[in-house]
Amino acid sequence: MMATDDGPDIWTVTITIPKDVDRDDAGRTFEIEVSADETILAAARREGVWLPADCQQGWCTTCAGRVVDGEVTHPHARRYHDEDREAGFALLCTARPRSDVTVVTDQYDELLAFRAKHDRPPGNAKFNDD
Ligand code: FES
Repeated sequence: MMATDDGPDIWTVTITIPKDVDRDDAGRTFEIEVSADETILAAARREGVWLPADCQQGWCTTCAGRVVDGEVTHPHARRYHDEDREAGFALLCTARPRSDVTVVTDQYDELLAFRAKHDRPPGNAKFNDD
């Protein structure tokens, strides 16, 4: 954490892009500073790291990631469940750091399957679209 006199705390967020994604940044790791009142997605984009996202309201799960270390909070997510948090999933469009954090991005398929298993949307609805 970076100490600030007046503003919010600033945390170091390490972003790991899986090797198997179909983007130029596959397999790369980025370390960015994110203030406590900023979302990880917004901070990443500010730093030129373009992560997948759609609604940016914590609803669609396009931006799903997994927290492998540290703590995030989702005060403004429209659809984020206790079991998502317990399983380590985060919605990076609304996730704000509460410690130094390491996240793995591109967990949409994994969260979709997890939600379906727990009978939570949009899991089953997406699977039934096919
Ligand atoms: S972009 Fe839709 S939940 Fe994050």
